[in-house]
Formats: sequence, C-alpha cells, structure tokens
Amino acid sequence: MSSSLLLFPPETVAIVTGSSSGIGAATVDQLAQRGVSRFCITGRNGEGLAETQKKTLEVNKGTEFVVVKGDLTDLKTCDKIVSETVDKFGRIDILVNNAGMGFLGSVRDAPIEQFQEVFDLNVKQVVYMCKLCLPYLEKTKGNIVNVSSTVALKSYANSANYNMSKAALDMFTMTLAAEEGERGIRVNGVNSGIVNTGMHARCLPPELVAHVLSMKSNAIGRVGEAEELARAIVFLASKEASFITGSNVRVDGGMYCYNPL
Ligand SMILES: NC(=O)c1ccc[n+]([C@@H]2O[C@H](COP(=O)([O-])OP(=O)(O)OC[C@H]3O[C@@H](n4cnc5c(N)ncnc54)[C@H](OP(=O)(O)O)[C@@H]3O)[C@@H](O)[C@H]2O)c1
Repeated sequence: MSSSLLLFPPETVAIVTGSSSGIGAATVDQLAQRGVSRFCITGRNGEGLAETQKKTLEVNKGTEFVVVKGDLTDLKTCDKIVSETVDKFGRIDILVNNAGMGFLGSVRDAPIEQFQEVFDLNVKQVVYMCKLCLPYLEKTKGNIVNVSSTVALKSYANSANYNMSKAALDMFTMTLAAEEGERGIRVNGVNSGIVNTGMHARCLPPELVAHVLSMKSNAIGRVGEAEELARAIVFLASKEASFITGSNVRVDGGMYCYNPL
C-alpha cells in the first residue's frame, strides 16, 4: 500500500464495537487499509468476529487483535473491552461506537419493555464505553465516532423507540464534544441512511426487508454500502478531521433532504 494513503500512525489502537458484521466490520477493514494495525473487535457472534479478523489479516498480516465476545447491554462486557485493550496495547486512540439495532413497533403496539431494551443498547452502553475510554483518549488526544441514523433527524412511523434512541445519541455526541474539546478529545457521529447490511433482516419482518432495501428513500436512488459509511467514519477518526468535533454528519445518499412530491 502506498504510504500516502495511510492516515494513521502505526501505534494507533482502535476499538470498534459491533465489528462482527455490517458497518462495524467495514470500518475495521477501512481503518486497516489506512494504517491501523491494532484493534479491539467486539460482538456476540464469534463466527462474524473470526471473519472480520480473517479479512483484516488479508489487508495487513501483522494486524493484532483483542477479541471480546459478549452482549454490550451487560456493562461488564464494556469493562472487559476496555481493560483487555489497555492490557494488551497500553493505549486507546479511536473508539467507534457502532453496535446498535433497529427496533420496530408503533407506540400503541410495542411493549413498554422495548424502550429500555433499545436505550440499553443504542444509548446506555455507548455512554458507558465513552466514560471508560475518556481517560485513555485524553492521553492520546484521541477521538470517538458514534454511529447514528437519519431517524434521529426525521420521524418515521412505527419505530419511535429506535428514533428516540438515535436522537439521544446525537445529543450525547454534541454534549460530550463540548465537554471534552479542551482535553483534546474530538467526538463526532454519522447519521446513516439505509445501508445494505444484515440489520434489516434482524429487525424487520421478512416481507419488509426487500421492500426497504429497494424503495427510493433518498436523492441518490440506491441504498448505501457499509464501506461508504466506513469511509466517512475513518475520515472523522483521522487527523484530516482535526477541526471537526460535535458534528453529526449525514451519510445518507440525501435521505434527509429527499421529500418526494
Ligand atoms: N443498516 C442501516 O440501514 C442502518 C441505518 C442507520 C443506522 N444504522 C446503524 O448502524 C450501526 C451498525 O448496524 P449495521 O447496519 O452494520 O447492522 P449489523 O450488520 O446488524 O451490525 C450490528 C452490529 O452490532 C452488534 N450488536 C447488536 N446488538 C448487540 C449487542 N446486544 N451486544 C453486542 N453487540 C451487538 C452486532 O454484533 P453481533 O450480531 O455479533 O452481536 C453487529 O456487529 C447500528 O448502530 C445501526 O443502528 C444502520
């Protein structure tokens, strides 16, 4: 690889949550292509994590990993991610809070327990991961990228809990950026539009998956690929974005601006 394409120095350590598939796995791949060779990858699916490791080693066979398998809604998993990363690598430069899930259900129909479930995954563990990583990020003048959604900005029926969780995440991103800027830590987010990952099959009834992935939801007229989100995440995590903090960047093919007549 040409050294002019490398954005990160060799000592860089990145934690990417939800890196067993989709946008998280693509982010590890893109970070590796830009010079990161020390990762903590996490998820519940061991096969997915093994696949991410395999693909990353194809980019750079010297890549080192901490692999933490576990459910992030159990905050002990977060403790484990951070302690094992610091034990092995001694530092943290980048935290990508990508793990999350879409949840469907109208306010009438969704059980009230769904609210807690969604917020535990899409908000609470993110706040906790940040709390744990801040002291290390302060030392490296590192940064955080949170993976949010267009639903944080625009209401869509039948997913109030999910929409609210991502709106809360956007506000958290801005507030944390305001608090941590003076310590040299940048905090940004991406508002993802509809991207071709397994998430839809996990959270939608089967008959809706093809419909969601094929409908014209944005200006560009196609769904995004995980790599297209990953490239924006990598940019925000890099020195190229040194004057960007507290920004929630829309990476959505124009989904936010698109209102068909
Ligand atoms: N795809 C889209 O259209 C879209 C749109 C807007 C925003 N997003 C956001 O993008 C992020 C990534 O989603 P994706 O589209 O790449 O979907 P995905 O392929 O389903 O990836 C989700 C990742 O999160 C992990 N995860 C989910 N629940 C977890 C839990 N309880 N504990 C630990 N890890 C958990 C999954 O790991 P395991 O399965 O191994 O547990 C997986 O690695 C999410 O935050 C999602 O809200 C996606």
